[in-house]
Amino acid sequence: MSEQDGEGTDPVEVRRVADAAAHIRDAERVVVLTGAGISAESGVPTFRGTAGLWKSFRPEELATPAAFVRDPRLVWEWYGWRRALIAECSPNAAHRALASLALDRPGRCTIVTQNVDGLHHVAAREVATGREAATGGDVSPEPAFPLEVHGAIHRDRCSDCAFVDDAPGPVDATSDLGLPSCPRCGALLRPDVVWFGEALDPNTLEAAMDAAHEADVCLVVGTSALVYPAASVPTVTAAGGGAVIEVNLEPTPLSRSANVSLLGRAGDLLPRILEAL
Ligand code: OAD
Repeated sequence: MSEQDGEGTDPVEVRRVADAAAHIRDAERVVVLTGAGISAESGVPTFRGTAGLWKSFRPEELATPAAFVRDPRLVWEWYGWRRALIAECSPNAAHRALASLALDRPGRCTIVTQNVDGLHHVAAREVATGREAATGGDVSPEPAFPLEVHGAIHRDRCSDCAFVDDAPGPVDATSDLGLPSCPRCGALLRPDVVWFGEALDPNTLEAAMDAAHEADVCLVVGTSALVYPAASVPTVTAAGGGAVIEVNLEPTPLSRSANVSLLGRAGDLLPRILEAL
């Protein structure tokens, strides 16, 4: 039997997919929390686990404000490598399933992502464009745009003033002169992502927590659920009496308390949950 033959035929898994779909179907409001695992099938490396980035790279040398002050070229070299890698990646079936869910429920489904790769945005545009082609009417992708609580890697932000913009192109980190500087104040630009020891954007975090609080269901996809405050999204929903559905390759600290825990690939399980709605 090949791996594919087995997909969808395990009776326990089939029942759990149906349970997950029933929770979502009955929910007035849904919040979704995604992590690096949802983009793994698109080719974006995760952070933890055997092949995770933090196995080969030290976060304190690459993803802290102190690291940037100490060696901005090294930090830019690493983010330049990740930008180039992500630029080659496309959304997968899991991103598209979530985009469809959010477009079906405008204003009633909020996607909160810890990912900085922008693939939820690309999927939202793809699904909206597909629906426009099918219906002939305007379909806005906006309801499927996520709250990016850890920022966006394709943007630059000033290390001193409030300037933020899309990065114009690759950064030459081979010399200090090649590093980008702020067009407003001249300070060094940095990637617009949250580093260890930094606070999340308060407005984005508040919107995420409001969505978690109001939701009847929190769907948690491809996150180790270890990094706070993002990891508190499902606990906020659960504290308000909502259900938690988890989709992950392996158990996490959340699995035991989840109402439905599905072990498997997001790209397989999310389209099946959506089909069962
Ligand atoms: P992690 O790398 O910690 O966890 C990824 C999770 O995805 C693991 O639990 C895997 O089992 C799961 N996974 C992998 N492939 C999957 C697949 N195909 N389908 C379903 N699940 C899969 O990534 P995050 O939880 O996102 O923060 O990490 C949280 C934060 O820690 C990141 O945003 C980043 C990192 O340090 C910052 O950079 C601020």
